[in-house]
Amino acid sequence: MNFTLNVWRQKNGQSSGQFVTYQAKDISPDASFLEMLDVVNNEMEAKGEEPIAFDHDCREGICGTCGIAINGRPHGPRNAVTTCQLYMRNFRDGDTLTLEPWRAQAFPVVRDLVVDRSAFDKIIQAGGFISINTGNAPDANGLPVPKDDAERAMDAAACIGCGACVAACKNASAMLFVSAKVSHLALLPQGQPESRKRVKSMVQTMDEAGFGNCTNTGACEAECPKSISLDNIARLNREFLLSKLFG
Ligand code: SF4
Ligand code: FES
Repeated sequence: MNFTLNVWRQKNGQSSGQFVTYQAKDISPDASFLEMLDVVNNEMEAKGEEPIAFDHDCREGICGTCGIAINGRPHGPRNAVTTCQLYMRNFRDGDTLTLEPWRAQAFPVVRDLVVDRSAFDKIIQAGGFISINTGNAPDANGLPVPKDDAERAMDAAACIGCGACVAACKNASAMLFVSAKVSHLALLPQGQPESRKRVKSMVQTMDEAGFGNCTNTGACEAECPKSISLDNIARLNREFLLSKLFG
């Protein structure tokens, strides 16, 4: 398969960027999107050109490191997959693909398609630890958790912190990410002792980092590779209100 790539190239956070066109030739339909970029980069390096910088680590949809906006959609055209789990057979031979980094004030561009997502790390750090002593494994299993709560907590914990929700949102809001991180502990008894402090601190850090406000467009949920539900945002709002009233 052959593709024309319009790739955002930017030397660093201080310089202005621009789109540069490359040809990706003889790509296997079974190559992942990142493997296709590896092929293009190998050819560029062989010619002595600077390869395209992009983030990746596990390449298995687990770590949340990869993230490219492809034709305007974070992680590309398929629902519920990360960029590393997207395959070239999902495109048509001869397609023109536009590759951009996440666009958000709180995610400054580091280089080309790589952005600095340390704002997410700061929000996680602001959430702190849980102080509860779970003991050994049999003790932990002895703490009953209703099945529905356990399922919802696990669903929220599936968030990999990729930032696609922010990139998809016209306000660059991080509410889906923060709501997933607040929810997976708020739904469990182990998360209760610090719940009020945790939600206040995480929301304050989110606001300080420069993320926008949520206006309930739902673009975040639609583009999330882990299908994190908007229900979590409703829970975050409830938890935040409770922390203001009783925290
Ligand atoms: S909520 Fe979804 S899109 Fe946002 S960081 Fe988590 S996994 Fe990524
Ligand atoms: S590289 Fe880990 S999720 Fe894509």
